[in-house]
Amino acid sequence: MTAALSINAIDLHYGAAQALKGISITCQPGKITAVLGRNGVGKSSTLRAITGINHISAGEITFGDDVLKRSPPYRRARMGIGYVPQGREIFPLLTVKENLETGYAGLPRSERNVPEYIFELFPVLKSMLGRRGGDLSGGQQQQLAIGRALVTRPKVLVLDEPTEGIQPSIIKDIGRALQFLRDEKGMTILLVEQFLDFCREIADDIYVMDRGEIMHTGPAADLDLPEVRRHLMV
Ligand SMILES: Nc1ncnc2c1ncn2[C@@H]1O[C@H](COP(=O)(O)OP(=O)(O)O)[C@@H](O)[C@H]1O
Ligand SMILES: [Mg+2]
Repeated sequence: MTAALSINAIDLHYGAAQALKGISITCQPGKITAVLGRNGVGKSSTLRAITGINHISAGEITFGDDVLKRSPPYRRARMGIGYVPQGREIFPLLTVKENLETGYAGLPRSERNVPEYIFELFPVLKSMLGRRGGDLSGGQQQQLAIGRALVTRPKVLVLDEPTEGIQPSIIKDIGRALQFLRDEKGMTILLVEQFLDFCREIADDIYVMDRGEIMHTGPAADLDLPEVRRHLMV
C-alpha cells in the first residue's frame, strides 16, 4: 500500500545551521506514527517541513502519490494535511466557535460546518462555544486546536507535542480521541512527543530523533529498549 505520507532523506537549514540531516519517515495509512526526541533535536522542524512552513534543502516529501515540492501551507492544508502546532496557537480573542470556523478557509461551501463527532470527542468545546479562546485552560485550548484541525477534514493529522503542559485527565481524553480517529475514521496520524508512556499506549510505529537525525525506528514496544531510552534521556 502507498504510504499516506512519506519523507525521504530531507535536509533543512536555518541559515548556515543544519537542523535536519537526511530524515526519512514513513506514515502508514490508518496508523499512528510517533516521533520522539529531546528538546532541540528537530521534531518541530520536521513537522514544519511537512506543512510547508519551512522549506527543505534536500530530499522529498510525498503525500499519497503527490510530491509536495514547494507548495505553500494553505495548499497542503487543502490537500488534507491537518496541523496542530506546538503551543496550540489558538486565537485568544476569537470565541471557540470562531476558532473552529477558521478551519473553513480551504473548504467548499457544502463542508463549512463543524462535524458533530468533534463535539462528541471534546464535549467541553460545545459547552464553551461562546467563550474566548484565551479564557480556556491549556488542556481545553489543546482540544480546541485539535478540533480546529479536524474541521479542515484532514486525511493526515500532524500534531506537535499535544500533551505538553496538560493535566493527566485531558491527556487521556486526547489519547482516546486520537485512537478513535485512527480506528473509526481511518485517519493517519503523525505525532511528535516527549511523553513516552503516551506514545507506548497509542502509537503503532516510532521514530527516535537525536541532533537532526533518525537514530531508531520500529514498533512502539521498542520504547522499552535500553538503546532507545538512551537517546531520550535528558
Ligand atoms: N526559526 C528558527 N531559526 C533558527 N534556528 C531554529 C529555528 N527553529 C528551530 N531552530 C533550531 O533548530 C534546531 C531544531 O529545533 P526544533 O525543530 O524546534 O526542535 P524540537 O522541536 O525537537 O525541540 C534547534 O537547534 C533550534 O534551535
Ligand atoms: Mg518542538
